[in-house]
Amino acid sequence: MKNLVWGFLLLLLVSRIGAHDLHHGQRTERISGSAGDVLDDDPVGRLKVFVYELPSKYNKKILQKDPRCLNHMFAAEIFMHRFLLSSPVRTLNPEEADWFYTPVYTTCDLTPNGLPLPFKSPRMMRSAIQLISSNWPYWNRTEGADHFFVVPHDFGACFHYQEEKAIERGILPLLQRATLVQTFGQKNHVCLNTGSITIPPYAPPQKMQAHLIPPDIPRSIFVYFRGLFYDVGNDPEGGYYARGARAAVWENFKDNPLFDISTEHPTTYYEDMQRAVFCLCPLGWAPWSPRLVEGVIFGCIPVIIADDIVLPFADAIPWEDIGVFVAEKDVPNLDTILTSIPPEVILRKQRLLANPSMKQAMLFPQPAQAGDAFHQILNGLARKLPHDTSVYLKRGEKVLNWTAGPVADLKLW
Ligand SMILES: *[C@@H]1O[C@H](CO)[C@@H](O)[C@H](O)[C@H]1NC(C)=O
Ligand SMILES: *[C@@H]1O[C@H](CO)[C@@H](O)[C@H](O)[C@H]1NC(C)=O
Repeated sequence: MKNLVWGFLLLLLVSRIGAHDLHHGQRTERISGSAGDVLDDDPVGRLKVFVYELPSKYNKKILQKDPRCLNHMFAAEIFMHRFLLSSPVRTLNPEEADWFYTPVYTTCDLTPNGLPLPFKSPRMMRSAIQLISSNWPYWNRTEGADHFFVVPHDFGACFHYQEEKAIERGILPLLQRATLVQTFGQKNHVCLNTGSITIPPYAPPQKMQAHLIPPDIPRSIFVYFRGLFYDVGNDPEGGYYARGARAAVWENFKDNPLFDISTEHPTTYYEDMQRAVFCLCPLGWAPWSPRLVEGVIFGCIPVIIADDIVLPFADAIPWEDIGVFVAEKDVPNLDTILTSIPPEVILRKQRLLANPSMKQAMLFPQPAQAGDAFHQILNGLARKLPHDTSVYLKRGEKVLNWTAGPVADLKLW
């Protein structure tokens, strides 16, 4: 039965509607009158951002020490800074600013293997806030409520990559009132404040563009995934990494011919995604991963396995329409779930994915382009305006506790 269904699908999907071109999608579909339209908003004229000028040790110097920071999935914090410096929403007059931005690269501290370490981030962030709050009057006015920070770590401003530790730490006390622009998103989680803006992780736009394949190549792979199933090094007993969901994918489907899954990362990874109908996006250490971006760019329907995930720009991107959501506990039924999706539903998702504005919103291109992720972040900030008058504190009023949090965080950076 399964093979029959698949044969039928294959026939249908040979005339594939794909991600062959980021700007000239052929048959696309808009969801008119819905949130999809918000993607085309132009933030220019709707908000003004003041960029604090910090000593280069908070940003440029750190990057000089390790240029790899420009290419990893947390690089949005660097590109957002560069983008704002020359953006028409930037104002040099803080008195007229709606938002204040502090350019501090807290994720640019990589191990020799390129894994970002969050251990210095709290002290560095604290130091930056100390600096802006003593050199300018704007922080004290709201204690950060009209300030935004880009914090693309696994668990955002909780500054730890292990969920348990991240939860124990909580959001850095000094950032409790600020708007956090972060990749991490999960409902009812201590590391996601209401009012935060969830963004896509950085994926290299030029590199992805360079791997586009001709549009007439059929999607002959049903389900595709490359990545870890177990993280033996950090989770030797198993069950903690990906809350067991990735292990369940492997154990249930490693021998299933519909599933092209492996830990090996081939050089044809991007091409393979363009040859696949479904791309699995299971949680790892965090609910999010670059696969969400890659799925959208390459027109491979993202199968999101991460309970309660809050997806990037969820108020603008119709994730329910373009993706498939599978509960972590239902992973053993993944084959049945995916083969039961009617072909017309698959085709509609592919048409929506082919919508160039959907792809554009997932990318941080250099230079920036209308509708890209930078603009979506600004749109999100603009939608939060005007600030409620209650965010402005009375003269001398203090809400934040500068000595709260782990003692080690209070050491000077
Ligand atoms: C902001 O308040 C702190 C005390 O909490 C004070 O040390 C600092 O000087 C104030 N900043 C300005 C610019 O007045
Ligand atoms: C600030 O936090 C510290 C450490 O948790 C605590 O000892 C202190 O009482 C708090 N101060 C206020 C004013 O709540």
